[in-house]
Amino acid sequence: MQVVKNIYKPVTADILEVIDETPTIKTFVVRPRQPIGFQAGEFMEVTVPGVGEAPFTPSSSPNVKETIDFTIMKVGRVTEAIHRMRKGDTVGVRGPLGKGYPLDAWKGKEICIVGGGVGGAPLRALFLALTERLDDFKKILYCYGARTPKDIVYKKQIMEEWPKIDPKKVEIRLTVDEGDETWKGNVGVVTTVVRDLGLDLASSVAVVCGPPIMMKFATFKLLELGYPESSIYLSMEKNMSCGVGKCGHCMLGEYMVCQDGPVLTYDLIKDKPGIWD
Ligand SMILES: Cc1cc2nc3c(=O)[nH]c(=O)nc-3n(C[C@H](O)[C@H](O)[C@H](O)COP(=O)(O)OP(=O)(O)OC[C@H]3O[C@@H](n4cnc5c(N)ncnc54)[C@H](O)[C@@H]3O)c2cc1C
Ligand code: FES
Repeated sequence: MQVVKNIYKPVTADILEVIDETPTIKTFVVRPRQPIGFQAGEFMEVTVPGVGEAPFTPSSSPNVKETIDFTIMKVGRVTEAIHRMRKGDTVGVRGPLGKGYPLDAWKGKEICIVGGGVGGAPLRALFLALTERLDDFKKILYCYGARTPKDIVYKKQIMEEWPKIDPKKVEIRLTVDEGDETWKGNVGVVTTVVRDLGLDLASSVAVVCGPPIMMKFATFKLLELGYPESSIYLSMEKNMSCGVGKCGHCMLGEYMVCQDGPVLTYDLIKDKPGIWD
């Protein structure tokens, strides 16, 4: 008899560590009691027992098999409940769901990553997946913007560790909307560092993830620089419920973001109503 996997049933996961990233964002390192693999950009439904579930994209490397990191911003009921959880508590994890970034199709290319705020979560999984097989790619340019220096997620990694990976092939550009006395870097929204890319656009793809308004202006900037619409990959965040193409909550035109996405190229969705909502 064929055993059918229950797509709605979460796997219990133990919280091993809680890391304060910013005043509103924490990273939860969890160990699922059954192994769950994923590709960068795919998402999972995380359940807080007695409260509900919400979609999150793992922020750790897909090559780490035992544990998964979720980087979560506190915005409402489920995320507030998760933020109250501690080491030793358990959550449910259902997934992986959707389609992630097509790394194999990008072999030999230059990758320009543009992110903001908690959009840094899927982008960290992507950045780690790319840099862990750096020979496959020509260059990785990571542009990230936060509101203030205190709002930069993975600050130590981004500022100290990532620039050392391979300075010939990996470049990090950071910016904040508002600096403070400690900040010596660029001040301005993320599009202010998306310029003079030094990339050959014909062999380059761009990836954008962040708050909708940032995604909109970053996409327009990339188009202005000459990126073809089909080379701009967006991580779409739509209201989700089932996460598996059954309920229709996540429709974007004819696409179900939970199944056809969340990673979709701009040419496919540019005319869909509510693309930037
Ligand atoms: C595919 C996918 C991947 C995601 N990955 C991540 C991730 O890695 N990390 C992460 O922190 N979030 C991520 N999100 C967003 C996350 O799912 C929502 O923040 C979460 O569902 C909110 O649930 P809640 O019950 O806490 O808020 P609710 O009680 O449902 O909402 C409270 C209020 O917050 C607003 N709100 C909801 N979401 C957001 C948001 N993202 N930003 C600002 N305001 C919001 C709502 O409009 C509402 O007004 C992802 C969403 C999708 C669809
Ligand atoms: S969330 Fe139910 S169809 Fe996408």
